Amino acid sequence: MRSTPLMTALVVVLSLAACDRNSDAPASADAAPADKASEPEPEPATPEPPEPEPEPKAETPPAKLADAMDRHFIHATELEQAVIDGDLEQAVADARWIVDEQPKLDMPETWKPQLERMLAAATEVAAAKDLPSAARATGKLVGTCGTCHEALGAGPKFSTPLPVAEGESTAARMERHRWAAMRMREGIVGPSESHWKAGAEAVSVAPPKPCPIPDGDILAPEVLELREHIYTIGAEAAETRDLGDRAEIYGEFLTTCAGCHVGGC
Ligand code: HEC
Ligand code: HEC
Repeated sequence: MRSTPLMTALVVVLSLAACDRNSDAPASADAAPADKASEPEPEPATPEPPEPEPEPKAETPPAKLADAMDRHFIHATELEQAVIDGDLEQAVADARWIVDEQPKLDMPETWKPQLERMLAAATEVAAAKDLPSAARATGKLVGTCGTCHEALGAGPKFSTPLPVAEGESTAARMERHRWAAMRMREGIVGPSESHWKAGAEAVSVAPPKPCPIPDGDILAPEVLELREHIYTIGAEAAETRDLGDRAEIYGEFLTTCAGCHVGGC
């Protein structure tokens, strides 16, 4: 039940977000001074000492980092969608991308511990044998993004989201759950207090009647209970302050979706 229009909308939002930056800026801009330095000087009588390389500032984001980050973000988003869809294979593929591509990036030495934590979490998703493990590891992974952004005082700024779906039909509730997952993820990755709160609050109060599920009686009772469990997690999410705890709750939230979508819905 991959929600293609939703994914399309996401990709559009992402590419819009990327518009204000020239992502095609040539990488050679940075390489220019080095090239010049290596050009042979015409017959220098006394060779001038080479210009000292500017001391690289550890905290300066390397060139193209923002592009790399955007791609990480796209895969983290796809990963979330895959877990919601109950598509373990796709989730593993998205995590694998991070595992394979991240080490190719040239990052400051001082970021190593953060990057290692991110890689470890991505490796855990890639190795997941079932959806609940993939969902929880996805929470961890997203947590490592936010921890680094918070520590460096850098990271994405998310625009005001579209309003949350209203109504009590199954489709409307599902859209709301999806919306909540996206906002929580942004709340963690940013990190963003307002996005986290918006996400948590959208699922913190259970509607008077559980979500109508077509042919729900064929589902195991523990699967049907996930309908209420979503709101228990939402209420807890609304109370949670710590980034690590938020990441854990978000992972738990994702297990509910997978539990039902795979359970025959
Ligand atoms: C090692 C630290 C670190 C980790 C881990 C990290 N980021 Fe970032 N991220 C940064 C820095 C630094 C910037 C700012 C880059 C800039 O402004 O050029 C950034 C910026 C971003 C941006 C904004 C890019 C833009 O277009 O300006 C996004 C989106 C992003 N990160 C997503 C992620 C996601 C998703 C993850 C986890 C899968 C992640 N980041 C993990 C350090 C990190
Ligand atoms: C108790 C079972 C159950 C749980 C738990 C559940 N879903 Fe669903 N979900 C369904 C059913 C049934 C459908 C198909 C609904 C339809 O086609 O109208 C569905 C469909 C969807 C769709 C596609 C909606 C559409 O417009 O076709 C999305 C998105 C979705 N779910 C998101 C979520 C998210 C996110 C979670 C977890 C926070 C979640 N769901 C948890 C039963 C569940």
